[in-house]
Amino acid sequence: MVMEIVGDSMSWAFFCLAAAILSAILLTHKRVHRQNKWKLPPGEMGLPWIGETMEFFKAQRKNRMFEEFVQPRMAKYGKIFKTRLMGSPTIIVNGAEANRFFLSNEFKLVKSSWPAASVQLMGSNSIMEKQGDQHRCLRGLISNTLSPAGLEVLVPKICNSIELHIEKHWNNSLDRVSLYHSTKVLTFSIVFECLLGIKVEAGTLSTFERILDGVFAAPLAFPGSRFFKAKKARKEVEKMLREIVRDKKKKMEEGREGEDELGSLLSQLLGGMIRGEIREEEVIDNVILLVFAAHDTTSFAIAMTFKMIAQHADCHNLLLREHIEIMKQKTEGESLTMEDVKKIKYTWQVARESMRLFPPIFGSFRKAIVDIEFQGFTIPRGWKVLWTTHGTHYNDEYFEDPLKFDPSRFEETIPPYVYIPFGGGPRLCAGYQLAKLNILIFVHYVVTRYDWSLIYPDEQITMDPLPFPSHGMPIKLSPKSRV
Ligand code: HEM
Repeated sequence: MVMEIVGDSMSWAFFCLAAAILSAILLTHKRVHRQNKWKLPPGEMGLPWIGETMEFFKAQRKNRMFEEFVQPRMAKYGKIFKTRLMGSPTIIVNGAEANRFFLSNEFKLVKSSWPAASVQLMGSNSIMEKQGDQHRCLRGLISNTLSPAGLEVLVPKICNSIELHIEKHWNNSLDRVSLYHSTKVLTFSIVFECLLGIKVEAGTLSTFERILDGVFAAPLAFPGSRFFKAKKARKEVEKMLREIVRDKKKKMEEGREGEDELGSLLSQLLGGMIRGEIREEEVIDNVILLVFAAHDTTSFAIAMTFKMIAQHADCHNLLLREHIEIMKQKTEGESLTMEDVKKIKYTWQVARESMRLFPPIFGSFRKAIVDIEFQGFTIPRGWKVLWTTHGTHYNDEYFEDPLKFDPSRFEETIPPYVYIPFGGGPRLCAGYQLAKLNILIFVHYVVTRYDWSLIYPDEQITMDPLPFPSHGMPIKLSPKSRV
């Protein structure tokens, strides 16, 4: 009897072992078979894990990612090539066709892929982490505030914010301000007060900036690290926002919402929460995400627009004429309206051309969710894809004489997916219209009220990993008498 049991368990163990070996052989065979079918794009994968990460970061630090990392590889391998960055096999894609293919196939073939620190600091409920229906729901809530009717309401609020900002930060600053830092403060109050409808308290911006400082840091939370400080700041912001959200939700439920709060983005999000479409954590994570998405991007776009105006006198003259025409129609102290903003056409060409040459975002990562076939190559499931703005903005196939500053190129319609500072497809920048208003109205107030010049005309741009002027772009100012 005992022998029978031992014999039975031995044959059972033998059976299990044989089954395990067989499945391992089948799996390896399947993987090898799958890999044999692949035709990967050309390129170098470099050493295990590290790949070409060092070269990538070295070029990034010098703000020469395109010139020193992407362009030499494009010259060698073409618009699509493989590499390995930070442990991940990655395909870098350039050109309008690739942009259209990867950006419009979000959720179907690829999904956005952010570094671990960004996800933890923005929160796993922010729109950048959402897919499919949940993403659509959040986009809908955000877009309501940025609809044509919503934007119309925002214009006088933005004018008011800019006037107050200039009065508070510029009029007592002798004759010099840091344009980049100043616009960061301003953008923050425009997003917080005009868009979200939350009053900015002293210290709020610096707490937010501590979060943003850790977004691209290594996710190592030891005391003193950037990420540790950022997580601590996020806890403080969460606490503050939770109180605001609960208080405002109560007001809305009791019908005590103020006139000027109606239609704000926070009200839209809270409306979604009251209807049970989203949860409190989603409201909080998305408020933090919106600040992150708007902050460095809009400020850099404004700084580069001013840099270009300063370097091109003919452009400055044309632009000034446009704003003086608008100003002539206004009485002193009267705010701009949406109708006025629609007339600011040339300045928008200047700003667009500045963002073509100096895109605030180099590109962003996606992750293949299935094996993808594109232009005869396979992008295996799980590999990363990095699309780049420079890959089309700096290509003479799409823009003649691409390094020349020429706002008139935007008189013509630009084909889709060629000009992509705001991305494209389902993840096209949700704040595009707000950024446009912020830039145009700010330029209007500055050029009509001040004579100004750059203190360092050749100021370097640094990347960390978003670009910024290394000295904060100080400008010299002197008030104009009303034209
Ligand atoms: C000049 C200023 C700006 C630039 C250049 C810019 C650029 C971009 C780009 C390239 C993306 C797509 C990222 C990707 O595909 O992975 C994006 C997404 C986004 N942007 Fe902007 N942005 C700007 C300003 C703003 C502002 C002012 C807001 C709102 C307050 C905003 C909110 C968003 C949001 C919510 C997303 C995520 C959209 C989604 O996942 O569906 N952005 N932005």
